[in-house]
Amino acid sequence: MSVLSVVGGQWGDEGKGKVVDLLAGRADVVARYQGGANAGHTVVVDGKQFILHLIPTGILHPDVRCIIGSGVVVDPIALVEEIEQLRASGIEVGSNLVIGKRAHMIMPYHKVIDAHMEELLGVNRIGTTGRGIGPAYSDKAARLGVRVCDLYDEKVLSERVRVSLAIKKRLLSGITLSREELEAFEEDHIMEVCGQVREILKPLVRNTDAEILEAITSGKQILLEGAQGILLDLDMGTYPYVTSSNTGVGGALSGLGMPLGKVDTIIAIMKAYCTRVGQGPFPSELHGDEGERLRAEGGEYGATTGRPRRCGWFDAVAARHAIQVTGADAIVVTKLDVLDNQETIRVCIGYEMNGERITIFPAEATILERCVPVYEDFPGWLAPTAGARSLDDLPERAREYIGHLERIIGKPVWIISTGPGRGDTIEIHNPFSVPEERKV
Ligand code: GDP
Ligand code: IMO
Ligand code: MG
Repeated sequence: MSVLSVVGGQWGDEGKGKVVDLLAGRADVVARYQGGANAGHTVVVDGKQFILHLIPTGILHPDVRCIIGSGVVVDPIALVEEIEQLRASGIEVGSNLVIGKRAHMIMPYHKVIDAHMEELLGVNRIGTTGRGIGPAYSDKAARLGVRVCDLYDEKVLSERVRVSLAIKKRLLSGITLSREELEAFEEDHIMEVCGQVREILKPLVRNTDAEILEAITSGKQILLEGAQGILLDLDMGTYPYVTSSNTGVGGALSGLGMPLGKVDTIIAIMKAYCTRVGQGPFPSELHGDEGERLRAEGGEYGATTGRPRRCGWFDAVAARHAIQVTGADAIVVTKLDVLDNQETIRVCIGYEMNGERITIFPAEATILERCVPVYEDFPGWLAPTAGARSLDDLPERAREYIGHLERIIGKPVWIISTGPGRGDTIEIHNPFSVPEERKV
């Protein structure tokens, strides 16, 4: 039995989809525990691209059981669409997918509120994905949420929707809504939307906390698939420019109802450089031509919204923070091949503010915004690494770069990804084969 937690080690889009797909081949169960359809996890199998938003990436492996845990905020319409799209591409989705009864649902009004909140924030906007994530988690915390289990008790559902909408209408009374938006706040419309998905989802709805316990006690290999990244974590990220869930292993424990002490190994996925979508501080961001070049070579456009990603050098201060707060045992470095044409590769090893050196990742976004990166420079390898499958395939300078990252962040690199495909991978250590002594 082994439980492996895969978390994003930066601001999301680190290549979790690619890595989870690789490791899901060795898993019995793959579980999503937080976030929602804001995620976009890309997998390329035999040249064919799949982007998973709500469904665990393990779905591409027919023998894997996929769990959407209670900590996920489920947009039922988006879920049904994703199921249909996967089926249309020949992927089996049936009894291999289960959805937590306790999971909260994203309703049409959450998306309308998400959009208007951003508008009201103006220059302070977060740059959300617009998927209704923040408003749905807000409702959950405010005890105004609607859960998957409510779909199957129409009386409870209509009562919960009625109360939630009545409060929202009062709170939103100063906002002018379009006719289409107004519909999202009509109880009849919401009940109709719920009616459309009720029977389709019914066979998939389960007590997923019991399923997880059963998988653990029967000695299954379980992979916990994080969405977003630790720098977008509600508590440990660059607040307020974060998502509304706990993206690390803490989120996995609460979002799946996992008993403490069962997680064997935690790996954090990090690109060989950094990207960020949306607003918020990013000290090692490259502006102008250098940033454009990384974006072009890395194909850095959002998998969910298509927005251009902001690009910059690897930030070791942020990486050390990520390792500290996730408890990662090791890291996976992705997109090494994107640096193939760089004459010089920079790593941000510290920050400076007002002439003072900062080595701890600041809690204050306002301070982080003023931090000037301090770089250590390494010579590029100027040779192709794309598709490399063993360390011996890498140019010496590329191997040295990985060694420098290990030294600077103080954790081993277990896997290096050299392309989007399943096979474009150098595996130094199999994260599923870690000895029993490591427990959280
Ligand atoms: P996720 O959200 O963490 O799963 O990452 P995304 O799927 O949003 O973004 C990662 C992008 O990089 C996707 O387009 C992947 O196909 C691609 N990708 C992943 N690993 C590699 C790699 O090692 N090299 C290259 N060139 N592309 C990669
Ligand atoms: P994956 O799982 C990158 C960002 C948004 C925004 C902030 C809040 O593919 O790595 P939200 O819609 O969650 O309220 O937006 O978080 N964001 C992501 N950035 N990858 C993601 O997911 C993201 N999910 C949310 O751009 O800055
Ligand atoms: Mg993504």
